[in-house]
Amino acid sequence: MQPPIPVLADYGISPVHGFLPDTLPLSRLPDPYYNKWEAIVANLQALILSRRLRGVIDRLPILSTIGLEHDAEWRRAYSLLGFMAHAYIWGADTPSDRLPPSISVPLLEISERLEVPPVATYATLVLWNFKPLFLDEGIDNLENLATLSTFTGSLDESWFYLVSVAIEARGGPIIPLMLNAIAAAQRGDVILVTKCLQAFAERLTDLTTILQRMHESCDPTVFYHRIRPFLAGSKNMAEAGLPNGVLYEDGSGTETYRQYSGGSNAQSSLIQFFDIVLGIEHRPTGEKPNPGSETEREYRAAQRHNFIRDMRRYMPGPHARFLHDVALVANIRDFVEEHTDNRQLCIAYDACLTMLSAFRDKHIGIVARYIINPSREVRARSRSRSPEVTRRRQNIAVSSRKEQDGEKKRGTGGTALIPFLKQARDETGEPAVEEWTRKFMKRKIKSEGVGDFFAGKPEEGAPVEQDVEVKGLAWSWTMDDEVGGICLY
Ligand code: HEM
Repeated sequence: MQPPIPVLADYGISPVHGFLPDTLPLSRLPDPYYNKWEAIVANLQALILSRRLRGVIDRLPILSTIGLEHDAEWRRAYSLLGFMAHAYIWGADTPSDRLPPSISVPLLEISERLEVPPVATYATLVLWNFKPLFLDEGIDNLENLATLSTFTGSLDESWFYLVSVAIEARGGPIIPLMLNAIAAAQRGDVILVTKCLQAFAERLTDLTTILQRMHESCDPTVFYHRIRPFLAGSKNMAEAGLPNGVLYEDGSGTETYRQYSGGSNAQSSLIQFFDIVLGIEHRPTGEKPNPGSETEREYRAAQRHNFIRDMRRYMPGPHARFLHDVALVANIRDFVEEHTDNRQLCIAYDACLTMLSAFRDKHIGIVARYIINPSREVRARSRSRSPEVTRRRQNIAVSSRKEQDGEKKRGTGGTALIPFLKQARDETGEPAVEEWTRKFMKRKIKSEGVGDFFAGKPEEGAPVEQDVEVKGLAWSWTMDDEVGGICLY
């Protein structure tokens, strides 16, 4: 028997705002008992700048979660503690490998209740961290959005989060639209499926337009050096000063080190929903396509050693469950493959793939501008300094040559960032049905080759960068632009 088509309300998903909560995020917790948390986050920048944050948090009492009532309050508390935790870990000269009980005790409890990891996730920073400037205007409009909390107080940081909020809001209505398409495909209603796909493709172009506005108010240098360090996780962070991860102290004395990925847009359920509903499969990085049998396709779809897949563990539990349940009923790709004689349907389906691939294409340009270029500049500068100065300045913002147990990271299986993103983009085009679209996607990929415009070319005489580590957001990547690898996580 066919599993039922998921009902949005069962997963806390809004038919209008998608994965953003239907009830707007709270600007503060109503119970004055939590004033201390609110006061710390409201003064985060000053406390970091004056180097007093750790002292203040060390003296903070362990507040109980008993005063949290509605879901919106739990979400606000999660967001506050996530900001405090990352500011505590990364907001000083050297990172802290321990979180005091005043943060870890409530954070662990709240995370368990909300089914999210006890770190700053996409939910902390984006989904549950915005407010509209005017209540009667939409939240899919960047001109009507503000953030509730930031680490740096900069417009750049707010903008970085708000671009994602606007994308989530504008993309939200695609969710019920495509659930309708799945139902229509079950009934064999070709006309309705086609219409849904056409509307989907049109809205996807809106999302790319919003994404391209990133550069308007988020400066790559500010992003790379000031914002990104606070988003870092505790996994694979030995070089940055967290060889074991972070100890979440709870006073029991039996705590063990924990390691988590950093906050990243790769944790957006919306983009993964698009992939699932269109039948796009992401293989482990470096694995080539193998157009095999149905069983082979199903097997690959179930692969868990896959970064994109792994990011689901960082989504709110109900959202991740929703993706799982949608995958059980996703039938659009098969439906299109069964109706290849219907041009309108095939063109509409291919248009969605093309638009999503274009979104990923623009995103690669952004990553090159915001991560690859600044990390090259840092390396170029550090090469001209004495090794001692370079060593002293080494921190999370600095990419470095990495050796693990005497072996280069690449040898132990590092994943190159740009090839990973390019593979995700190329996989987006793979299910295309129209001969023309397939040829177009292939040509586009080939003509781009190794050097993306924004990434530029490596300096002349510069050493080959394939063993250089690049700190992404959720993960550490290698710089090598030509070949993929296997993820380390
Ligand atoms: C300055 C802006 C941005 C930068 C520097 C950036 C950087 C990155 C990086 C480094 C990764 C690799 C995974 C990691 O290390 O976390 C990644 C993946 C990803 N990012 Fe972004 N990102 C930006 C904005 C966005 C926005 C606005 C979205 C849309 C919501 C987005 C969606 C994704 C997705 C879906 C992935 C997973 C790979 C894929 O599915 O293609 N990113 N990003």
